[in-house]
Amino acid sequence: MKVPFIDILRYEKGFLETTSAKACELLKNGHFVGGPIVGEFESAIKDYTKTSFALGCANGTDAIQLALRAVGVDKNDKVLIPDMTFWATFEAVVNVGAVPYTIDVSRETLHLTLASVKEGVEKFNPKAILLVHLYGWACPETLEIRNYCKEKNVLLIEDCAQAIGVKIKGESLLTNSFAATTSFYPAKVLGASGDAGGVFTTDKTVADTTKILINHGRTGHYDHGLIGWNSRLGAYEASFLVESLKHLDARLESRRSVCQQYREKIKNPALNFLSPSKDVWENGYLSVALMTPETRPAFIEYLKANDIGYGTVYPGAMSAQPGAKDHLGGKISHGHAEWIAKSIINLPCFAYMKQEEIDYVINKVNEFKA
Ligand SMILES: Cc1ncc(COP(=O)(O)O)c(C=O)c1O
Repeated sequence: MKVPFIDILRYEKGFLETTSAKACELLKNGHFVGGPIVGEFESAIKDYTKTSFALGCANGTDAIQLALRAVGVDKNDKVLIPDMTFWATFEAVVNVGAVPYTIDVSRETLHLTLASVKEGVEKFNPKAILLVHLYGWACPETLEIRNYCKEKNVLLIEDCAQAIGVKIKGESLLTNSFAATTSFYPAKVLGASGDAGGVFTTDKTVADTTKILINHGRTGHYDHGLIGWNSRLGAYEASFLVESLKHLDARLESRRSVCQQYREKIKNPALNFLSPSKDVWENGYLSVALMTPETRPAFIEYLKANDIGYGTVYPGAMSAQPGAKDHLGGKISHGHAEWIAKSIINLPCFAYMKQEEIDYVINKVNEFKA
């Protein structure tokens, strides 16, 4: 048997027919960019996430740049980011002219902590923090970090590229986020058929500014109130997302079941399967296990020999990337991000994975000898 790390083509029965028919309708009506379908998607995802304002844009990296700009992050402002994230988080800060400062994450939760945020704020006095929620979980201390940022007047933006459908204390992560972003890249839990992204906010001014930035700073057809750029969401992507959203809960349920089965049925002591904190309801984006950096290379070779796909999300700290050298303002490192990068392993996990595929992975991993 061969089990890929991810297979995003396991569509529901009738899904392709429906999305194709909707595409024809858009083409017949000349709806290519924007149009009523974008508004329909924005309204549907707003209701799903229970936020106040939701705006579609071109991709998840733009979404972070839009949010940074909309909340008022400007040239040379300092922005804290976790040292363990996807490179887009770092890039976005640099692309808006601000300066990224990396702070270390926890070895236990793999996310920022209130203590690490406090240490970063006290040391660097930043204008903003980008809190990143990875693996389909939420940073366990999200609510405490939100309160602390409010108290200290530090702007908080949350990168939820991997966190659509995640709940914290029973509430959608996006409901009370001042400014949050996501990616609808096809491999995300809610994927478009190409690039797409979204900005979410509880603040009307942030929403209004984001909307203007998305479309060339337009305040009228040929009136430009701001320097924005073209980050408009395509009509077909919006239409594909409207249909995908109808199936999202079923897809997440299927993914969560895979993660849970790995946790319960893999008994190999070489792997330590992690769970999100007890207050967090995951979306099943990734399965996460840690192993010793000495064991992982042999395990990877074993997975390859058995035709099992895998991920190492992510294999390097942001501050250590060659591209960071000329832009990093400063960092607080305790070596945790580097250690996680060498220790993490992600097993196959995607919606509608077959039970025989899950069993194959579980059995093979249980048979691995370190
Ligand atoms: C944490 C995180 N932030 C930002 C992004 C960027 O999203 P996009 O690829 O849609 O630009 C991603 C996507 O991979 C991500 O995982």
